[in-house]
Amino acid sequence: MTDFDAVLQSRGLSRYHGQGESLVRAVDEVDLDVPAGQTLAIMGPSGCGKSTLLHLLGGLERPTDGEVWLAGRRIDHLNERGLARMRRRSIGFVFQNFHLVEELSARENVELPALLAGRSSRAARRRAADLLERIGLGDRTRHLPWELSGGQRQRVAIARALANEPLVLLADEPTGNLDTAATIEVLRLFADLRAAGQTLVMVTHDERVASTADRLVSMHDGRFVGDTRLAGGTGRLGDLIGLDG
Ligand SMILES: Nc1ncnc2c1ncn2[C@@H]1O[C@H](COP(=O)(O)OP(=O)(O)O)[C@@H](O)[C@H]1O
Ligand SMILES: [Mg+2]
Repeated sequence: MTDFDAVLQSRGLSRYHGQGESLVRAVDEVDLDVPAGQTLAIMGPSGCGKSTLLHLLGGLERPTDGEVWLAGRRIDHLNERGLARMRRRSIGFVFQNFHLVEELSARENVELPALLAGRSSRAARRRAADLLERIGLGDRTRHLPWELSGGQRQRVAIARALANEPLVLLADEPTGNLDTAATIEVLRLFADLRAAGQTLVMVTHDERVASTADRLVSMHDGRFVGDTRLAGGTGRLGDLIGLDG
């Protein structure tokens, strides 16, 4: 594949479970091109394959068939070690339930991926301090996850996902457990990331969240059934914040 404008691509990407009568096509021959810097929202009913698609794109799960390309390099064929390395270096994951390490402080949570990628503890510490400052939690670095609000926890999780400057940030219902105020905190952060050129693919049930994206893909039964460009972006976020006072 030669389209290097697309940072993330799939061709015929499929993930099936079971067989015969009980075959489930969780993801069914999906072709996707995500240009660098795009914010893409994916919506669709529960069970339509959104999480599976994110896992396939980020190398957390292997496809039954098809290809995944990251920055012009095919990644679905990598062995376990290569895949783990690719994930550490090039992909940031954000989950609905934060998945922070409860025993570690905000700073230590954000340091972890950099340490795992082999950076010095000093470099990891500096990077974590920068990121926490950037997400507005410079004064919460020693707090444990339970000492933070939901919105703060998710921002720490996003900082952690950014620790190794990933090519792509993949977020699975990142505001699914947050109230409106915390959702806006996260959307503000996403708006900053987008302004900095971060490529972001997010699954969401929340139309307000989707409306801040550049592009909306609708999924049904493992397939794309709609693909729309949105005005999106900071303007929409401004409206949302305005609405909320
Ligand atoms: N390990 C698995 N074994 C069997 N079926 C699965 C497995 N994982 C997911 N599925 C099925 O694949 C479909 C898509 O699941 P998922 O990607 O979690 O959907 P979504 O995130 O859109 O709710 C669902 O029908 C789900 O039941
Ligand atoms: Mg899901």
